[in-house]
Amino acid sequence: MTITIIGAGKVGAYAALNCGLRELDDVLLLDIVEGLPQGEAMDINHQLAERGSDCIIRGSTNYEDMKGSDIVIVVAGMGRKPGMTRMDLLKTNADIVKNVALKIATYAKESKIIIVTNPLDPMTYLALKITGFSKNNVMGMGGMLDLSRFKNFIQDITKVSRQSIQALVIGEHGENMLPLIRFSSIGGIPLTQVISKEQAQDIFDHTKKVAAEVIALKGATIFAPGNAITTMVEAIIKNKRSVIPVSTLLEGEYGASNVCIGVPTIIGSNGVEKIIELELDTIEQNIFNQGIASLRDVINALPI
Ligand code: NAI
Repeated sequence: MTITIIGAGKVGAYAALNCGLRELDDVLLLDIVEGLPQGEAMDINHQLAERGSDCIIRGSTNYEDMKGSDIVIVVAGMGRKPGMTRMDLLKTNADIVKNVALKIATYAKESKIIIVTNPLDPMTYLALKITGFSKNNVMGMGGMLDLSRFKNFIQDITKVSRQSIQALVIGEHGENMLPLIRFSSIGGIPLTQVISKEQAQDIFDHTKKVAAEVIALKGATIFAPGNAITTMVEAIIKNKRSVIPVSTLLEGEYGASNVCIGVPTIIGSNGVEKIIELELDTIEQNIFNQGIASLRDVINALPI
């Protein structure tokens, strides 16, 4: 196994460090800026050397170096500036992701792809179509990050260990994100029995908005996304069959087709091994459908 991370910026570099700290595999960091991936690789290796991790991080600007990679993470492209939505990045990042997807199809035909670049769901769809890979091999990281934020808010209210919290966020990784209060729990006890309706509404709203808050304060989100990417990589490499919400192509599930959006899945060595269908109530299904509707408009504008 080799992991390639395309985009050695803030999130890419932190994901590389995490892969090394969890001793998942060697990592190739690829970027178009000469010196950046090499410098990040050196810095990360210095930390890993002291931590006793034997994963080697390499940096390169040559796409050919990703030949034979088993997992390719796409985190190349512009991030949001304060005040921007994820959709504002569409045009610039679609060109980058299209270009990168063509390289992956050339050099790493057998790989599993994890898309991170925003807007996440359209970029996942674009990479799927441009590479022509089977749908289980192309997935987007959004829900795994959103649920970590949701968990943090649940802990804030309940004051129980974060370890005891199970949380789920599905739908568009964007304005129509759907934190699922009804499918979240504390030590197996449904969250709906533990917190009030007002508290539920409050953390629902905050989970959707908190990334923009972090970006306004420090310019980017880095640590939580880097960790969420690594959890998905770990599930594939170790064939854990973890239940993780990822952006994946729907073919009739949740009443939708030909769109990539976040749903709970089982992630293992075959990538997206199964989509889990939940029985959403009317309000949840409406929010999910709003996400689908907004993604449809965007998908039609993609350079496919
Ligand atoms: P950054 O600006 O720190 O890094 C982006 C890197 O991509 C730069 O080093 C740039 O040189 C590189 N790049 C641009 N075009 C490239 C190409 N064709 N090939 C290789 N490298 C290329 O940005 P950051 O903060 O690391 O974010 C990267 C992306 O990830 C953004 O689109 C951001 O919105 C997204 N993101 C998505 C999250 C999610 O939950 N899905 C969470 C956090 C960020």
